[in-house]
Order: sequence, then C-alpha cells, then structure tokens
Amino acid sequence: MADRKAFRASILHCLADPGEQADSAAVQYIEDGILLVEDGHVAALGPADAMAATLGDDIERVDHSGKLILPGFVDCHVHFSQLDIIGSFGEQLMDWLEHYAYPAEEAFADAGHAQEAADFFVDELLRNGTTTALVFPTVHPQSVDAIFTAADRRNMRLLSGKVLMDQNCPETLRDDPETGYRESRQLLEKWHGKNRLGYAITPRFAVTSSEQQLKSAGRLAAEFPDVHVHTHLAENRDECDLVATQFPWSRSYLDVYEQFGLVRERSVFAHCLHLDEPDRQQMAKLGAAIAFCPTSNLFLGSGLFDLRAALERGIRTGIGTDVGGGTSLSMFRTLNEAYKVLQLQGQSLPGFRALYLATLGAAKALYLDDKIGNFTPGKEADFVVIDYAASSLTERRLSQSADIAEKLFALITLGDDRSIATTYVLGTPV
Ligand code: GUN
Ligand code: ZN
Repeated sequence: MADRKAFRASILHCLADPGEQADSAAVQYIEDGILLVEDGHVAALGPADAMAATLGDDIERVDHSGKLILPGFVDCHVHFSQLDIIGSFGEQLMDWLEHYAYPAEEAFADAGHAQEAADFFVDELLRNGTTTALVFPTVHPQSVDAIFTAADRRNMRLLSGKVLMDQNCPETLRDDPETGYRESRQLLEKWHGKNRLGYAITPRFAVTSSEQQLKSAGRLAAEFPDVHVHTHLAENRDECDLVATQFPWSRSYLDVYEQFGLVRERSVFAHCLHLDEPDRQQMAKLGAAIAFCPTSNLFLGSGLFDLRAALERGIRTGIGTDVGGGTSLSMFRTLNEAYKVLQLQGQSLPGFRALYLATLGAAKALYLDDKIGNFTPGKEADFVVIDYAASSLTERRLSQSADIAEKLFALITLGDDRSIATTYVLGTPV
C-alpha cells in the first residue's frame, strides 16, 4: 500500500523563470491548496475544495492552513567546514583564507570532529529550509565521508566531493595530483548514486592547484561524465591577478578550467564576479552553472555579481550561501542581500524570481530539475512550511500585503530561520 499524505496550506512554486518583470504565469499559487504526496513523491496539487473529495479515507491529512508551502531551498555553494569561522572580521579573500578558513579546515583531519560538524551543519541547513546543497568539505577524505553520512542519515539530496589542493596553501592541507585523484575516485565510487547522494570533483580554485592536479581532475571528469565539478571562479581581483600570473598562457580565469576539461554540464562555479563576454558565452555554450553568493560577495568585499548578464546570456544560475565567507545559511537572508546587490547595479529582483533562484533555477543549475525544484508530479517531495507570523513584525507586515507577490517579497526581506515552521524531506518532517 502506498504511503499517502495530503498537506493543506497555501502553495507556491515556480514553473519557469519569472524574470525581472515577475511574470506571474511562471509561478503557480494556490491560496487554499492541497499537496498530495505518495511514497515521498509529489502525486498532485490543486485547490483544497476540489481535491479534498477525491482523497479517500486511507490518507494521512496534515493541516498547515494559514501557512505557505514552498519547495525546499537549494544551496548551490556552501562550505560545511567553515561554520565555526562564520562572521570573522575584516579581511578580503586571500587573507581571510589564510587567517580563518585554512586553520578551521585543519581540524577536519580528525574524523570525529568532521562527523560532529557535518551533523550540526545538515541540521542547520534543514532548520533553514534548505533540503539540497552542493557542499565543499575539506581536503581530508574523512570530511567527505562525514558529510555524505550526515546527509544520508536524513535522506537528503546532497552533492559533495574531496577538495583538491596541492600548492599555495598550508602544508598540512595539501594533497598531490596522484593521491588527490586516487582518493577522489575511491570516494566517488563509494558515494556517487548512493540513495540521494552525488559526487562533485572539487578543485578548490586554480590558485591552489598545480597544472598536474587540474589535469588529473579533468581526467577524472572525463572518466565520470555524470558527476559534478565544483570550484570557485573570479571572485576577487587579487585572486584573478594570481591566476593570470600562474597560468600565463590562459585567455582568462575560466579558460584555465576549460583547458583542463573542467567546464561542462554539471560544472558549478561559485561567484563569477569578474567575467568577460567570451567567458559568459563559453559557460552558456558548455552548460556550466554559476552559484551567485551575495552575502559572501558583500562580506568579503569581493564585488557585485551581474545577474542580468548571466541570465540574458542563458547561463544556468542558482543561489549559494557560501558560508563561512557568506554570513547566513538562511535563503531569505541570502536573497535579501541579492536584491540589494542588484539594486546597486540598476537591476531588479522581484520575489518570484528570487524564489526561482533558490528553488527551480538552482535545481536547473545543478541538473537536478528532473528530481527537485518545484511540485511537478513525480518529483521528490522536499518542501518547507512557512510561518507568516514567525515574528511580530513579519506578522504585522505580511498580513497587510495585497497579493502573494508583495507578501513573498516582504517575507524574503524580513524572513530568516524563524520563518521555517517545518522542513519536509521526501514528505517526512525532519
Ligand atoms: N576561494 C577559494 N577557497 C575559497 C573559500 O573557502 N571561500 C571563498 N569564498 N572563496 C574561496
Ligand atoms: Zn566558497
């Protein structure tokens, strides 16, 4: 017998990119709806009055009336090893890595520490309504085991893979091209495709990899075309200068990765602040994706991401928190900063498009939109229940909104983890 559950609430999800004009045909909103879940997958959704009569008696009914169901959020770029240094004062990227990120990552040589941190991290993701993430662990294989174990215990869809770094970083955090390749391959074979987990080949960024290492990462990518590639690209001016010096033959930073076969479908590049038009054309053509990380870009003083250029060019783009350079795991807080980054450039981010970037758009960026991102029947039932009255101010403000577009935008501006009443993974509350 199928396990059937009917969730009653307002329901909102994206069908396509609503764009800067907030095209309401790109979203579906049901004020009083039912989301029908069978064996952890979406079976149907529709108005409650029409659907209630058809449900039968063998169904579990869950009443979230007065609240809002959204698809689970998808975080396209985050470091689970950096939670302990989130909010560290006063540096830009290269100094921040040296003074905060690398020392924190050294602790992950200890498998016990890695597992405790991974369990805490995925619980924080879920508490913030994030049900899928593309995660940087550390150079240590045990950190990869830890994050996959933590996600698998909670039935989460999650992507990760061993960080590759063999130069320009502390000795204690270095691998070499040969061990990096071998350990990545072992971890890939152990975890990729297990339940809801997927492997990502993860060179940290061009600065910390020799040409030999990028070459061996590219070899692995060629051998396993269905795994992801995950790295950083063109975040900070000093970083870009280092890459230009290190790879004098390259046309651009992106070109370094491309020459080693690392720019392709399922490649996800965090940041991408300093791209030129040929870079954008190449990313679109090769099917690579961008993780736009607004809180990190502001916090580390890296710059302003040109979302309009990326989307007009047709590049798959999702949102990333980039904790611990980023300052929150909350998608609401992240989207709120994205709006401001775009405001400073004369671009707009209506609530519907913001929702898209954190759900269906992110799922497309990760090539997971056949499985997650909205409530198309057959997809996995990962969703969040939003409490409009999580604080007295949101309750007051949201109750005065004229329509769902206004309400969603104010929710994004004011909301945080308190707004997430319940997170469901495969139709089960976590
Ligand atoms: N570039 C290389 N490593 C990192 C990192 O850990 N965080 C950020 N924001 N950028 C990076
Ligand atoms: Zn990052």
